[in-house]
Amino acid sequence: MIQLTNTIPETRSVIQELKSEGKKIGFVPTMGALHEGHLKLIRQAAHENDFVAVSIFVNPTQFNNPEDLANYPRTLETDMQKLEGSGCNLVFYPSVEEMYPEPDLTVFDFGQLDKVMEGRYRPGHFNGVAVVVKKLFEIVAPHKAYFGEKDFQQLAIIKKLVSMLQIDLEIVPCPIVREADGLAMSSRNARLTPEERAEATVIYKALTAVKENYSWFVPGGVRQLVMGEIQESPLFRVEYVDVVDSETLQPFEDWSDAEHAVVCVAAFIGKVRLIDNIILY
Ligand code: PAF
Repeated sequence: MIQLTNTIPETRSVIQELKSEGKKIGFVPTMGALHEGHLKLIRQAAHENDFVAVSIFVNPTQFNNPEDLANYPRTLETDMQKLEGSGCNLVFYPSVEEMYPEPDLTVFDFGQLDKVMEGRYRPGHFNGVAVVVKKLFEIVAPHKAYFGEKDFQQLAIIKKLVSMLQIDLEIVPCPIVREADGLAMSSRNARLTPEERAEATVIYKALTAVKENYSWFVPGGVRQLVMGEIQESPLFRVEYVDVVDSETLQPFEDWSDAEHAVVCVAAFIGKVRLIDNIILY
C-alpha cells in the first residue's frame, strides 16, 4: 500500500521515523504523468534503498510559458495505479500553497551552466527547478535522489546545486528510457498527434546516425548534420542543436578539447517541445 502525503510536516515525520530506524531513503522527484522512464528510476531506487519516496508536483516556478503550465498533464489517479508494484512506498503530493506559502525569491548563480541550451530558450526555468528541488531535498532528506539523463542540463545543474549548498545526498543519474522506435520517453509525448508521434523518431535517428561516425567531422559539423536531418521534416522547428562538453555544457572547437561530449537537441513538433540527447563519448 502506497502512503499518500500532502503536507510537509506529515512527510517529514514519516521520513524522520524511518531514518531513526536506520532505513535508507531513495527519492524520485517528478511532475507526474508518469511513464516507464519514471518507473525505471523508482525500481532502481527501490533496489538501492529501504524506502522510496516519489514527489508529484507540477512546479509553477519552472514554467516560463503559462500555456505549457496549463496544459501540463495532471493524472494523479493513473499515476497512483502505475506506481503499484514499482517499489514506491510514499507519494508526496503537495498543493502549490503548501510548497509556496509565499513567493520564493531565491536567485541561484550557476555560472555558465544555465546560460546555454535550455537556459537560453527558457529564461528562469532552471532557477525554478533549483528552487523546488532544494525545497524537496529539505523535506524528504533522502540519501539518494534519482534523475534521468534525458534532462541532461537539469542533471548538471542539480549536481551543481548539491555541491554549492553542500547538501548531504548522492545524485544518481539514470540513462534515457526510449520507446521501441527510439523516441525518448516524456510526459509531453502524450500530447503528440498520431502523425507527429510517427515523425518524432526523426530526432533519435539523427542522433544515432552521428554517434556512429562523429569523429569524421568537427563538432560544428556534427551540429549541422543533426540540425539538417531534423529540419528535413516539415513538422519540426528546431530550437537548438549543440555539441557540448558533458561537464561544462559549453560548446568546443575540437574533440580533444572535451573529455566527454554530448549532443543536445530541443525542437518543436507542432505545439509540443521535445528534448533529447546522445552521449558521444
Ligand atoms: O524533471 C522534472 O520532472 C522536474 O524538473 C523536477 C526535477 C521534478 C522538478 O520539478
